[in-house]
Amino acid sequence: MKGEISISDGLRQLPIRPVYLVSVEHDGKKNIISIGMFAYFSGKPTLVGVGIAPSRYSFELVRQSREYVVNVVDEELMEAVRICGEKSGREVEKFEQTKLTPAKGVNVKAPLIKESPLSIECKVVKEVETGDHVWFIGEVMAVHIREGYDWKDGLLFKWIGQEGFYYKIGENTGKY
Ligand SMILES: Cc1cc2nc3c(=O)[nH]c(=O)nc-3n(C[C@H](O)[C@H](O)[C@H](O)COP(=O)(O)O)c2cc1C
Repeated sequence: MKGEISISDGLRQLPIRPVYLVSVEHDGKKNIISIGMFAYFSGKPTLVGVGIAPSRYSFELVRQSREYVVNVVDEELMEAVRICGEKSGREVEKFEQTKLTPAKGVNVKAPLIKESPLSIECKVVKEVETGDHVWFIGEVMAVHIREGYDWKDGLLFKWIGQEGFYYKIGENTGKY
């Protein structure tokens, strides 16, 4: 038997609600935003996307630079996710505030976050307005990985804002 529940309670039960730090730069101004709206859109060409609300400072920077970097986060970056998800780059310099280090990419000016285990350089190829967010679909230009990194090491894959919790990757079921 299934019973209907409210839409917001129902969506909280989704198995995956990812979280990433997206770094951007335009005209020498760098910023970082915490992002839950991330998706993989195409294999060939390789397209991913991030949904950013027009009110965000990062929205302006991506609109103009047409680039961004998606940085995977682990438990050590949780405090940075909090800061970059609460404060606006209009008021604070987030690289300074989080003590994260901007690093050079190869195909985009937007900085990689050195402390992230995996960073994905993207160039915007399409913008799609969806309700209260705009999806910036980006072609993946390069991916940078920390030596010895294993994706199972403490990655955060689900956040529930109302509870204020993040969850880590679970166990291998041993079955296919
Ligand atoms: C875990 C988490 C996920 C978030 N996901 C998104 C998102 O997908 N899109 C968005 O526009 N804002 C999202 N936010 C809110 C922004 O990170 C927040 O408004 C931030 O302060 C905007 O910064 P900016 O003005 O410097 O761009 C999220 C916040 C948190 C904590």
